[in-house]
Amino acid sequence: RALIRPGGLWTSLDVVERVGSTNSDLVDRAAELGEGAVLVAEEQTSGRGRLDRSWTAPPRSGLFLSVLLKPCVPVARWGWLPLLTGVAAATGLARAAGADFALKWPNDLMVKVGGEERKAGGILAERVGGDGVVIGIGVNVTLREDELPVPQAGSLALANAVSTDRDPLLRALLRSLEDWYGVWRAANGDARASRLQETYAAGCSTLGLTVRAELPGDRSLIGEAVAIDGDGRLVVTTPDGRDHPVGAGDIVHLRP
Ligand code: BTN
Repeated sequence: RALIRPGGLWTSLDVVERVGSTNSDLVDRAAELGEGAVLVAEEQTSGRGRLDRSWTAPPRSGLFLSVLLKPCVPVARWGWLPLLTGVAAATGLARAAGADFALKWPNDLMVKVGGEERKAGGILAERVGGDGVVIGIGVNVTLREDELPVPQAGSLALANAVSTDRDPLLRALLRSLEDWYGVWRAANGDARASRLQETYAAGCSTLGLTVRAELPGDRSLIGEAVAIDGDGRLVVTTPDGRDHPVGAGDIVHLRP
């Protein structure tokens, strides 16, 4: 199945050698581009992560791409898009790479390296204009232990993936994203009806763990992550038995 086909989601695919950040580039050009524009870079010189962090990776060591979506579903449901992208990336890449992924809520793709869960990828979604979202995906593919940007990072190669050929991985990821986005959009963004909520929860390794969440206004809470609610928030049960939904904008630390 060709990636760009009539009636398909992906309308253009641009592969560039080097860019500051694929997300910034697509955000800047969003007004002139339609839904389904894809930008892939071999290298990013100022890749960005969530919460104003940076995303660094050696040239050609992974997948660095952004896609522009203009979802015709109620804005209140757009919060599912980064989680949907996580599910799509995890399932698509698992098939193509022959490696298992877990989802660390909200936006991290985790692999197992020697029995330990490590971050091999991340997702950064940014609203643009009134009707668009740029979703950036970064995945470490070929990195060896001595090439990791931070020691606690992982890669497909370190997870003993059967294939670390970036081109087929990119195709598998985009196909899977097209499929999941299609199902979600057909359900008008309803995460339950599209089975996104249960699929995310089934792949989410944060559930069952004790976490500390930093909330606005210098508040924080410690409890067990028990569920993903209908809005994609992490539900944390504190020792007094109360449930607290934690949003993706809040910082969550895992507690050993
Ligand atoms: C995170 O883990 O905090 C999210 C990382 C997102 C990285 C990707 S790489 C392609 C796209 N362009 C960027 O500048 N960032 C995203």
